[in-house]
Amino acid sequence: MSTASLDRAELKPGFGTQIGGVDLAAAGDAQLADIVAEFHRTGALVLRWQSLTPEQFVRFGKAFGPLEGHTLQDFTLPDHPEIYILSNRVEDGRPVGAHNDGIGWHTDLNYTAEPAMCTMLYAIAVPPEGSDTLLADQCAAFAALPAQRQAELARLKQIHSFEYLANMRSEGRKAIPPEVLRANPDVVHPLVRTHPADGRKALWVSSLTPGFVGWSTAESEPVIDALIAFVTQERFVYRHKWQVGDVLVWDNRCTLHTGTLFDDTRYIREMHRMWVKGDRPY
Ligand SMILES: [Fe+2]
Repeated sequence: MSTASLDRAELKPGFGTQIGGVDLAAAGDAQLADIVAEFHRTGALVLRWQSLTPEQFVRFGKAFGPLEGHTLQDFTLPDHPEIYILSNRVEDGRPVGAHNDGIGWHTDLNYTAEPAMCTMLYAIAVPPEGSDTLLADQCAAFAALPAQRQAELARLKQIHSFEYLANMRSEGRKAIPPEVLRANPDVVHPLVRTHPADGRKALWVSSLTPGFVGWSTAESEPVIDALIAFVTQERFVYRHKWQVGDVLVWDNRCTLHTGTLFDDTRYIREMHRMWVKGDRPY
């Protein structure tokens, strides 16, 4: 596979690619394979001016690998359960999508044994201000550390916990059903993660955690807070300002991401989200 044929521009030096001149609705298999190869190499993709039916978006997603189901089924698209709706729109008194999910630095499905490899969002309605998506390049963050600190961190493992996430989100929301909690027990992942495509290392830290294996929560918390502050410095972050028709794809194996708030009393934000299955981190 070659990515040389694509019209490419870096999102940030050494991170991410904006790809121009591609209509994903009409892209052939070879072109999609080139786009996927670029994703594995650089950690994030932006493709603008797209117009995709759910079928076309699903086809794009499947070019990356098998699609992942969603932990909660409340806002999946009828007929296309691989697509989850993010929206603050209310139709006939009922919300059509999840609203204000994903605020705060995290990676998707980190609390599972095989977290989602990548997340893709397709923008259907976008506020004129706010609602940016921020991606933090965790390979760059790891590379910026002194070798001795890299070695210390590489020895640590972290407990990742859906229950922490559920408790954090429970305020003012529907409680998470007990069977969902039971289906998502805590898992342990390495703090420094190896990218299967080329072996590059990423610092892969979660704030939704009881702590490091062998450490108390009280001992872990200040270290984790300091790491999150370090890895999300502006020098490691790409800020995506949305336009309708944007497709943004990021690699959960080497990034943290967060949404940002917007004035939801004035504006509608609506996105289609898909996840592609991942492997066990190592
Ligand atoms: Fe997320």
